[in-house]
Amino acid sequence: MSLPLTMRALQQTSLKGPQDVRLITDAPVPSPGEDEVLIRVTAAGVNFADISKSYGAFLGGPQPPYLAGFEAAGEVVAAGEAVTGPPPGTRVIGVGDGAFAEYMVLPAAAAMPVPPGWTAEQALGLVVNWPTALAALKPLGRIAAGETVLVHAAAGATGQAAVTVAKHFGATVIATASPGKHATVLALGADHVLDSVDGDLAAEVLRLTGGAGADLVLESAGGATFHASLAAAKRVTGRVVVYGVAGGEAAITNWELVYKHQVQIIGFNLGVLIGAAPQIFGELMGELSGLIAAGVLTPARPTAYDLTDGPRALGELQARATIGKLALLP
Ligand SMILES: NC(=O)c1ccc[n+]([C@@H]2O[C@H](COP(=O)([O-])OP(=O)(O)OC[C@H]3O[C@@H](n4cnc5c(N)ncnc54)[C@H](OP(=O)(O)O)[C@@H]3O)[C@@H](O)[C@H]2O)c1
Repeated sequence: MSLPLTMRALQQTSLKGPQDVRLITDAPVPSPGEDEVLIRVTAAGVNFADISKSYGAFLGGPQPPYLAGFEAAGEVVAAGEAVTGPPPGTRVIGVGDGAFAEYMVLPAAAAMPVPPGWTAEQALGLVVNWPTALAALKPLGRIAAGETVLVHAAAGATGQAAVTVAKHFGATVIATASPGKHATVLALGADHVLDSVDGDLAAEVLRLTGGAGADLVLESAGGATFHASLAAAKRVTGRVVVYGVAGGEAAITNWELVYKHQVQIIGFNLGVLIGAAPQIFGELMGELSGLIAAGVLTPARPTAYDLTDGPRALGELQARATIGKLALLP
């Protein structure tokens, strides 16, 4: 197959946020390294981490100018010399650099086949949002049936996955979301939904749990909500899995842990988990396959934008104006 030399792509030109992402038409089509495959991108996933990277707030993130995006699904069109699979023609989903483009390279070992019968677009989230939600709930959050879980940003891509999996595990779910998104969260099976923008979240969670607090909190909101999350967790046995900083950094002191928030705080980053605990990641992906087979994890129905509308998609994600997964179509 003959491949073009250049392609359309979204380039981040500064660390001032998504306002400085622009379409270029002459990006070189990358060549796969010896352990990599080149895919023709069918759909790229937009993630909150794309916003963090665009401000330089992602640890070890790229320096501008760089091709934005890191999650994409598409068809393998070329492979490095050491690659034994997936073969050209396979539809895969994976993470790498420069997903907001017509072509990108992926590590072959981490290119997951799109489930049979699914479109590439429907597979978005499989290697980012779902493993994040499952890891936060189970190996890290140690969820058990009958427990109460507080899920922030529950209408978002990761939050929807977390609500779905938590309900599957038999938990009571208290969700938070912006007011216009409450119907989405309740339709997923959340037992309660609270306003993420206004109100006393900790008091509401304590009221809903008879004063006990949530057994598990999935904390991605950050900012002032971080302290509400700590106050909403059950004393002594409550776990707070911290995996996002959407609202900004927040601090806790050792004094507060001893005298105020006697809870178990667990930091989590999926990229680090994949590198530092590959066995746990393998188990997570195996469990996700089981959830697909059981019909718990269903094909995504992302809100799709043309690649040229990428800046608008990123702006809406940043402005909390989106529901569920977002896709860019090159
Ligand atoms: N640690 C990891 O490995 C990992 C992996 C994947 C995702 N994450 C984190 O998980 C979170 C969700 O990511 P996602 O890609 O699925 O995005 P998303 O949930 O689809 O969108 C972000 C949502 O966060 C909520 N939010 C709360 N405070 C916000 C603020 N100050 N600014 C903007 N949004 C705010 C908004 O929901 P409401 O308006 O409804 O409250 C917003 O819609 C992010 O914090 C992300 O960094 C972490």
